[in-house]
Order: sequence, then C-alpha cells, then structure tokens
Amino acid sequence: MTAPLSQSFKQAGRADHFDLANEGAYHAWRVRKLADYPMRAGGLLVPVADGFRLTRAERLAVLRTVGKTNIAIYQLSGPAAADKHMVRELARQFGLQHLDNNLCADEDGITSLQVVGKRRVGEYIPYTSKRLNWHTDGYYNSPDRQIRGVILHCVRPAASGGENAFMDHEIAYIQLRDENPDYIRALTAPDAMTIPPNVQNGEELRASRTGPVFSVDVGGHLHMRYSARGRNIVWKKDSTTQAAAECLLNLFQPDSPYIFRHRLEAGQGVISNNALHCRTEFEHDAGSDQGRLLYRARYFDRVRDTHQSG
Ligand SMILES: [Fe+2]
Repeated sequence: MTAPLSQSFKQAGRADHFDLANEGAYHAWRVRKLADYPMRAGGLLVPVADGFRLTRAERLAVLRTVGKTNIAIYQLSGPAAADKHMVRELARQFGLQHLDNNLCADEDGITSLQVVGKRRVGEYIPYTSKRLNWHTDGYYNSPDRQIRGVILHCVRPAASGGENAFMDHEIAYIQLRDENPDYIRALTAPDAMTIPPNVQNGEELRASRTGPVFSVDVGGHLHMRYSARGRNIVWKKDSTTQAAAECLLNLFQPDSPYIFRHRLEAGQGVISNNALHCRTEFEHDAGSDQGRLLYRARYFDRVRDTHQSG
C-alpha cells in the first residue's frame, strides 16, 4: 500500500530524506546515494551459477547492487536450465512472492513477453516488436496493487535490437528535486496524474486511475508510477505539475549519465525495485517461432534480504 509522502511520514517516520522540509536529511542521503554510483550497466552485472540456489556471496552481491541502484542484472552460467520455475525460485530468494496476476499474465502469473500475431487483449506494446517508451511497471494498477519488484528473464534475445535501458527512480527523484523542490511537491500530489480507463471494444477492462507519481511506502521506500507515453497519462492541469512532467520527460536525454543500457542475452535477467525502463524496437521474423522471448514476473513485494528479520 502506497501513501502520499506526508501521510507516510506519520505512519513510518523512516524516510526523512524524502521530506521536503528536511533539507539536511535529503542532502546527507543524496551524498550517500551518489557516492560511487555505477555509470555503466556492467556495474550492475552479477554472475550467478544456479538461479534455483544462489550462494551467499551471489545473493549479497545482488542485494548490494539493488540496494545501490534499484537494479541488478544477473547472468546465469547455465542458461538452458532457466524456465519459469527458476524465475519463481530466484524471486523467492529475494522475498518476491506475491505475483500480480494481471490481464496478460499466463496462468502461473508470469508473463511470456513475445510477439503475438493476434493479440489476446488490446494492442499492448510489450507483445509487439515496437519501441517501448519509458515507464514503471503497473503504473495503471490500483493503489493497493502497486508493483514494487520485477524480474525480467531473457530466454532468447531478438536477432537484433530489443535493447533495454534503465534509470533508477531515486535518481529521477534527485534530479527533479535538485531542479525545483516544487516539482516533487507537485508529483507527490494524490491527483498529479490520471491514467485513462482501458476500454476495448466498448468494454471497460480497467477503470481510470488517479494518483501520485512519487510516493513513499510504509517501509519508507520511494515508489514511482510513470509512463512517458503521452496518451497514457492526463496530467493535472496546473502549471507546476505540467512543468514537472516536462522536466521528468527531459531526464531521458540520450546523453544522460544515469541511463543504463543493456541488451539482455539468453540466461541474463534483471531484478529491480520496479525502476524506470524502456526498450528499443527489435527485429522479428514473423515466420519463426524462435523469436525474442522474455519472462516477466511482477511482484507486490520489494527486493529484500530474506535472511534478515523484518
Ligand atoms: Fe515494463
């Protein structure tokens, strides 16, 4: 359950650095956050021998990387053994257990991302080879079903293209707050953005959703809901919100030092606290059933150290 920042402070009292009134805590956190921050996707890479059973060192390396950037890229040494069961077991080792069974998930709650000729539900871009713009997963979910953890596992990459890019949402927060703290104030408002309803063939599959971009959950962790696709979001009609939305969109300049670009290879995957991400277009051979295939598991949980209490 996410909540507006001010409310969360009263509930949790553990996120002073996200309090706009507490400049000192923010600056101390900002310095820690940016110290030795990785500048390349290679800095996020963690080799893993067996996804079903990580060694302590592997587990801690993933936790350290996610703790720093909210994103880690694992590399299995035996990619052929990786199936959906492995994704589930890998997730469990990081406290990711409560899957979002969204409209497009397979029966086991994990989605097979691949190009489909005839779409089951609407024209969802993840199932095409087209470019996919910056977003966080499940930004259209209801407040009590927010996605906090995601695993994206690559079974087969595309013949060419299909590169992902990632940006830590805490870095987006820092850049916006440094630019103008009022932008953060605007983007944490409970009516900052509205996602229009999902209507297919006259049937409403999902109601409209209104909520903040940034919120802090009860554990004091920053959460972000966002899509850069203009038609996916109706921004609050207020000049500060509009300016904040434009500033946010401008963070994704190709020369940003904070964008991690990586084309997942077979046996590689991403474990993330639902950081911002996008994908380039890729080549798809319509006559082949061996095209790009990724498994995506979306969780209501954040990545955590299951060997520690709490
Ligand atoms: Fe996504």
